[in-house]
Amino acid sequence: MLRSLALTLPLGLLACGGALPQATALDAQRAHVELAQLQEGRSLLVKRCSGCHATPRPREHVAAAWPTSLGQMSERAHLDLTERGMIEQYLVVMAPK
Ligand code: HEC
Repeated sequence: MLRSLALTLPLGLLACGGALPQATALDAQRAHVELAQLQEGRSLLVKRCSGCHATPRPREHVAAAWPTSLGQMSERAHLDLTERGMIEQYLVVMAPK
């Protein structure tokens, strides 16, 4: 509880309606990726996708729809391929199936 508050508060820009979910070891395990990668994707999402609108939350799209939606936004956010891949991974893993 305290730990998640400490992580969430400095981000500041989060819209109401629930905090951006933190990836857990379980998420990493079921997606067969490193937890650190998902955490990096989340942090990039906050940094790069919050300038024009509230930080998008994974549950706004089903997993299969995120790559297309992110494709349109990655141009606007000037993401390179690595950044796009990290953000996409976080969104896809954390989104409803
Ligand atoms: C330069 C401004 C800008 C940046 C940066 C930006 N967006 Fe957007 N985004 C918009 C605008 C404007 C809209 C609404 C109009 C539209 O859908 O074209 C939008 C709409 C959206 C939507 C709702 C429509 C849809 O396709 O589902 C999502 C989700 C979204 N953005 C995700 C992201 C993500 C993820 C990032 C970071 C990679 C991002 N945005 C970065 C300007 C931006």
